[in-house]
Amino acid sequence: MKVLSIFGTRPEAIKMGPVVKAVEQTVGLTSLVCVTAQHREMLDQVLDVFDIVPDYDLDIMQAGQTLTGITTKAIEGLERVLVEASPDIVLVHGDTTTTFAGALAAFYQKIPVGHVEAGLRTFDKYQPFPEEMNRSLTGRLADFHFAPTETARQHLLNEGIADASIFVTGNTVIDALSATISDDYCFSLNTLNTIDYDRHKVISMTAHRRENLGKPLEEICEAVLEIVNTNKDVIVVYSVHLNPKVQEVAKRILGDHERIHLVPPLELKDMHNLLNRSYLVLTDSGGLQEEVPSMGKPVLVLRNVTERPEGVEAGTLKLVGTSKEKIIETTHLLLSDKSAYDKMATAVNPYGDGKASQRIAEHILNKA
Ligand code: UD1
Ligand code: UDP
Repeated sequence: MKVLSIFGTRPEAIKMGPVVKAVEQTVGLTSLVCVTAQHREMLDQVLDVFDIVPDYDLDIMQAGQTLTGITTKAIEGLERVLVEASPDIVLVHGDTTTTFAGALAAFYQKIPVGHVEAGLRTFDKYQPFPEEMNRSLTGRLADFHFAPTETARQHLLNEGIADASIFVTGNTVIDALSATISDDYCFSLNTLNTIDYDRHKVISMTAHRRENLGKPLEEICEAVLEIVNTNKDVIVVYSVHLNPKVQEVAKRILGDHERIHLVPPLELKDMHNLLNRSYLVLTDSGGLQEEVPSMGKPVLVLRNVTERPEGVEAGTLKLVGTSKEKIIETTHLLLSDKSAYDKMATAVNPYGDGKASQRIAEHILNKA
């Protein structure tokens, strides 16, 4: 059985890397990979980590690309690939525009679709944008739904998806995590080796969401600047997304401060080990909300809603939104009040046992 995995951005690659490896190792399955390269450099970094050489590379990324541009280029390119490769099943992951385009292109060729990380919902059409709709539409197109948690399964059942087509697997990001973190890790980016993680409170940060571009991102950065200026023991490491709209704001507001490191997108092991040594994390990323709870670090989520409520329920994640005052106030509390910090710094992992990819490969072999 030929399994074609389609992905295009950094987070999809991180979470599909283990699935591609599991499919490769399953007797009876043949693995093919097509990348749209909606991301270029940030995707290639991850392909290197997992040692994946794509069979097809659409190379669609353009600076300042639009949603329409990504969608149309991906669908056109994928039609050619699907006709040539003629897979028995297509796998897509999550909620990006590549995900939706991959599922739609496969549907047009009447090829069954397996959706990895299915069933997450905020029930708000515009938050996260366009991911909530990408994920919902992909759910309508998919034949097999690999839900990371029981909550995600319930969302799908509530939408009328047949129980027999839903498999609760855990999240594949946990599969990747087990191989990356170690206590004696030496960073490949030397700046990160020069930081004294015991003497300073290191805040790691990422922010890139489309709905946060512009004013919300400016408020986030202004809050961070004030936090650093009023807490002499704080160091911030901000891994800045390559989107020019993110780069411009980050450099304008946070550039040239001795205790703020604006670093380029980090190699995955550097990122996971940095998170693991941090005091707390500020982020609007989806993936970080899944990874960091298992490291026992408080995460302040720079969003108004989340499709990942498990960490909020467990107490490790707190939704703070993007208002400058709220970010400053909540961060100050965690920097100054040990009991508030300890309450959040509890290691929980609601996302499975690290065997999600293996389960997905087995389900494909047995049910698809
Ligand atoms: C995309 C996904 C988002 C996901 C995020 C992960 C969509 C609509 N958005 O958002 O769901 O959370 O990836 O990071 O699918 N760029 C580079 N090099 C790269 C990657 C990006 O230069 O390797 C720049 C380009 O100018 C590009 C811009 O970033 O046009 C934005 O990339 P895009 O994929 O459109 O949006 P993201 O915000 O990355
Ligand atoms: N990540 C990384 N290097 C970085 C920033 C993030 O490897 O410099 C990893 C991070 O650990 C997580 C994933 O990228 O696994 C999250 O991707 P991103 O924030 O791009 O997208 P999102 O999760 O918001 O969809």
